Amino acid sequence: TKPVKIAPSILSADFARLGEEVRAIDAAGADYIHIDVMDGHFVPNITIGPGVVKALRPHTAKVFDVHLMIAPVDNFIQAFADAGADIISFHPEAGAHPHRTVQLIRSLGKKPGIVLNPHTPLSMVDYLLADLDLVLVMSVNPGFGGQSFISSQLDKIAELRRRINAVSDAQGGRQIDLEVDGGVNIETAKQCIAVGADVLVAGTATFVGGPSAYETNMRALRGQN
Ligand code: DX5
Ligand code: ZN
Repeated sequence: TKPVKIAPSILSADFARLGEEVRAIDAAGADYIHIDVMDGHFVPNITIGPGVVKALRPHTAKVFDVHLMIAPVDNFIQAFADAGADIISFHPEAGAHPHRTVQLIRSLGKKPGIVLNPHTPLSMVDYLLADLDLVLVMSVNPGFGGQSFISSQLDKIAELRRRINAVSDAQGGRQIDLEVDGGVNIETAKQCIAVGADVLVAGTATFVGGPSAYETNMRALRGQN
């Protein structure tokens, strides 16, 4: 089996040196660069806009995994696509027509993802999975780094694994990532991997200790040391 992918959340990086931080996690083996976009309205925090994403784009060739926590979401999809996003994920509560938003992301040549909050049922992706490249399960309530993992999400991840496998098999083995975000540390990473996660977002657990620790931190999350 392939090792789990690690997507460091740059929310935990030093914002005054963001370009260098992205280069450092790239060199340390990050698979995706997870970018948390918050609007102070859909979630109680404000972070990064398309201008910052565009400024970071020349610093790495790694996949930009852009997690939009903004509402309404549709009118910002184009801006993040133009800024260099590769995967664009949004919360179904952030727009009236999630299927239309998925089509919009696809029409711009980007990979669409849906994000499920801790209380959001899996049925939200019932008629969408075949059109998605990623489903992101939130294991904290979105808004801040450094929160504790909500263990009730492990059952959801396990069931989602089964549903994704069924759809993927029906589509000739097409890759649909199952990503987990929030409170991922060495202990909870193991639990997520055991129930079938493909990609782990990790903010605190990647950036703790500073640049010299990034590689060791990510290896530990993958269970490699
Ligand atoms: C929370 C964000 C997460 C967060 C993860 O709203 O979506 O990506 O930065 O941070 P940690 O890994 O510290 O929980
Ligand atoms: Zn996130």
